[in-house]
Amino acid sequence: MQVRIAHDAPAAVRAGALVVPVFSDGNLTGAAQAVDAVLGGAIADLLAASEIKGKLAELALVHAKDHPFRRVLVVGLGESGKLEPHALARYAGAAVRYLGRRNVGEIAIALPPQAKGHEATFASFIAEGAIAGSFDTSTYQASPEKRTAVDTVVVLSDGFDVKAVESGVHRGTILGESVNFARRLALTPANDMTPSILADEASRAARTFGLDVEVFDEARIREEKMGSFLSVAQGSAQPPKFIMLRYNGDPSSKDLLALVGKGITFDTGGISLKPPERMEEMKYDMSGGAGVIAAMCAIGRLRPKLNVVGLVPATENMPGGKATKPGDIVKAMNGTTIEVINTDAEGRLILADALCYANKLGATKIIDAATLTGACVIALGHAASAAVTNDEALVQSFLAAAKPSGERYWQMPLYDDYTSAMKSDIADLKNTGGRPAGTLTAGAFLKAFVGETPWIHLDIAGTAYLDNESAWQAKGPTGTPVRAMVAFAEALAKG
Ligand code: BES
Ligand code: MN
Ligand code: ZN
Repeated sequence: MQVRIAHDAPAAVRAGALVVPVFSDGNLTGAAQAVDAVLGGAIADLLAASEIKGKLAELALVHAKDHPFRRVLVVGLGESGKLEPHALARYAGAAVRYLGRRNVGEIAIALPPQAKGHEATFASFIAEGAIAGSFDTSTYQASPEKRTAVDTVVVLSDGFDVKAVESGVHRGTILGESVNFARRLALTPANDMTPSILADEASRAARTFGLDVEVFDEARIREEKMGSFLSVAQGSAQPPKFIMLRYNGDPSSKDLLALVGKGITFDTGGISLKPPERMEEMKYDMSGGAGVIAAMCAIGRLRPKLNVVGLVPATENMPGGKATKPGDIVKAMNGTTIEVINTDAEGRLILADALCYANKLGATKIIDAATLTGACVIALGHAASAAVTNDEALVQSFLAAAKPSGERYWQMPLYDDYTSAMKSDIADLKNTGGRPAGTLTAGAFLKAFVGETPWIHLDIAGTAYLDNESAWQAKGPTGTPVRAMVAFAEALAKG
């Protein structure tokens, strides 16, 4: 899908449909008002009759076959005084999904009056949301019902700062494509998204977008003494891969941001086997890794002034004759010994070595993202990801950068109590801390591998994929944490 801009007045634009916003309070404004005037009050009538109330992503279609725009899709944006720019992603996504299913190929989208002075931000969310709304989940189907027909989205810049709209569309296009890349990697089933295939996808994308790429095979992983990572991989017939992508946007600086993502391409639980119910969702257990790969690609395309490395340990977690058994003790890269109480707590085992490796590379800040614990879904549901840290200032700057991106993160504490819960009787650590505070004992475990480096762990178990579709988003993978990671990298680059 292509997103471009046009200078036409809304009522004069030639398209399959024109998309205009309405609010749940007050009168028609901007493009909606202008179009309402040429339609003899048709939009005002919809509101008066309560056919649409203006709630976010609420939709109503008006046919206008005698006008160049042919149809008007009226889309709610909520309360006008409380408009957050990221709502524009839902506005555009809902429009693309609704019109795309009705075979409209080209749509024109109007900015709300609130975009004045913030054109780049608003236009970025429109482009991102439009592209995310076109995400195709039907690639395995012979006669797909849900594929969107929208191939062109035109953002109307009339009355706004054209240059700023243009730069916003540029950024939003990159972000939307990167979000969809992460979603495709996650959606692809585990038989078609093995560690080797994930590494190939990452390498191909990295080369396209000018990133350095290196992939360690099993022998090289062993040389690096990543015994914790290998203990998860040893039950699988698929060889593990350690994927590294590098972006050098500030060669004069010694600062290095490391993004680390859990790349379990399928999590059966291993010998501590999961129950069959919903186990198929565990193809999504590489969402953190997919997010890191896609965020690195976005960073490579946006070229902010900083250095970033993306690290993704990738493996299946399978039971098998060679699999790790509960009680086995394994050794991580930094020499820490780990008693594997439960082979289903595998994410932390692969991340342990990746965090050590981030330190070996000289990372000065580390952010990891992982579908790490079911406990996180119990704590926060699907409404937010959890964030834990060893550095309060770092997490505050991350939360500030992430908030406007539209992804939600909620900080949780890392008390010493959780560290104590991870002590083993016969090894340095054990890999589970019992039922209480499962997200935080997992965080405390990871903390043991980051040393003194400022670090944030993001548990995206409840947000990486969703069971229900919404007006603006297909069900399945969401692209979390791509938006927040890119926003944070941009914020760091700005200083
Ligand atoms: N990948 C799972 C966590 C998960 C569960 C993600 C549900 C998304 C939805 C992880 O590897 C896991 O199995 N965690 C265990 C840890 C436990 C054994 C300490 C869990 O949460 O049950
Ligand atoms: Mn598991
Ligand atoms: Zn897992």
